[in-house]
Amino acid sequence: MFRYLPEQASELAPEVDWIHHWITDLSIFFTVAICGSMLYFAIKYRKRDGVDHETPRIEGNNLLEIIWTVVPTIISVIIAYYGVVIYQDMVEVKKGGDVVVINARGRQWAWDFQYDNGKSITNEFVVPVGRPTRVVLTSTDVLHGFFIPSMRVKKDVVPGAYTHVSFTPVKEGTYNTFCTEYCGREHSYMLAKLRVVSEAEYQRWVNDRSDELIKKSMSPAKLGGKLYYEKGCNACHSLNGSKIVGPSFLKLYGKEREFKDGSKVEADENYIKTSILYPQQQIVKGYELVAMPSYKGQLTDEEIGGLIAYIRTLDGSQPVEEEKEEEATDAADQLAAMKPVERGEWIYQNKLCITCHSLDGSKLIGPSFKGLWMKEGEMQDGSKYVADAEYIKNSILYPTKEIVKGYQGVMPSYQGQLNDDDINGVIEYLKTLKE
Ligand code: CUA
Repeated sequence: MFRYLPEQASELAPEVDWIHHWITDLSIFFTVAICGSMLYFAIKYRKRDGVDHETPRIEGNNLLEIIWTVVPTIISVIIAYYGVVIYQDMVEVKKGGDVVVINARGRQWAWDFQYDNGKSITNEFVVPVGRPTRVVLTSTDVLHGFFIPSMRVKKDVVPGAYTHVSFTPVKEGTYNTFCTEYCGREHSYMLAKLRVVSEAEYQRWVNDRSDELIKKSMSPAKLGGKLYYEKGCNACHSLNGSKIVGPSFLKLYGKEREFKDGSKVEADENYIKTSILYPQQQIVKGYELVAMPSYKGQLTDEEIGGLIAYIRTLDGSQPVEEEKEEEATDAADQLAAMKPVERGEWIYQNKLCITCHSLDGSKLIGPSFKGLWMKEGEMQDGSKYVADAEYIKNSILYPTKEIVKGYQGVMPSYQGQLNDDDINGVIEYLKTLKE
């Protein structure tokens, strides 16, 4: 009866649903039985002839009383027993080497997730199917609630303290994560996506740090524009001049700001930086009601510079671009039609090799590709190498295994992102880059 719970996507879900359904069915049974018999007797013994009938006086019935004491007691004990057992499974701290530990932080009004290798992401997180997962929760501002219905886990997220949820996903798919504690104006938009994927896909995803490399190579204003959405500034600050919770960013730079005490200041770099790090220090008149959370410790100096540069560009001279999903191109077909050298060049341009490896011999984050083919050199551990096909393939797939002297092992692995044909293309392309 009444099977309405969401998809069962974790190991725990069937247990939770079983006890939930059991209690619900039992309640429905007794509600119908008790109310039904009340109605039945009320109708059966109703006053028919207008005369009061004296009812017999019954002192008690031992058999009946024993039954309605013992039966509900047994039922209650069963419910309590399974309630405790399943609750224990629910709150058990998953430990051991194969546990995926994710640090999550709730803030008004978004979820930030950080993995052990430093990868961080907002409003989305990815876990491998079949591996126990522990999400350690905390909040930077107010009370939030972390709830993944399909995993049957839910926990309060408390500022200044850590809580956690554990679950083992059993099904690949995309699931919703909600905030279940009313935390302010945009509470209902505080959602995150949980993607459960295969182990291989997870490894590829978690080791793909190209997003961070892209940020490194962005202009400050572009980085600021990206952060504006990622860090949730957009929840309170519009780009079109309208007042949401905080002042709009449009034409903010250089504007005169007036505070409650009547003092005034121009919105310059220092003002913006202070507003980001210590938002309570200078509250503009008319915005006293909602306290902006501090972004201290959440943004690097470089990122703050980016935001300032971005705000500076919002002078109203250009229409504001809304964030767009990157268009998926049919790159696979295009690639298949290319010659290996062309394919290598395309990969160099599009797979971010270009960010760290120059073509003109200059040293960026990684060695230049110019003259790299068959070059001899020394590794950090003193061993010698020749940049032949095997060396290049290994460098692409396992970049941190062996590091050339003078460089840091920051390159992400392209395992799962480039196939043999791609790698062969890169090698053919390198052969053309002679000194
Ligand atoms: Cu956070 Cu509601």
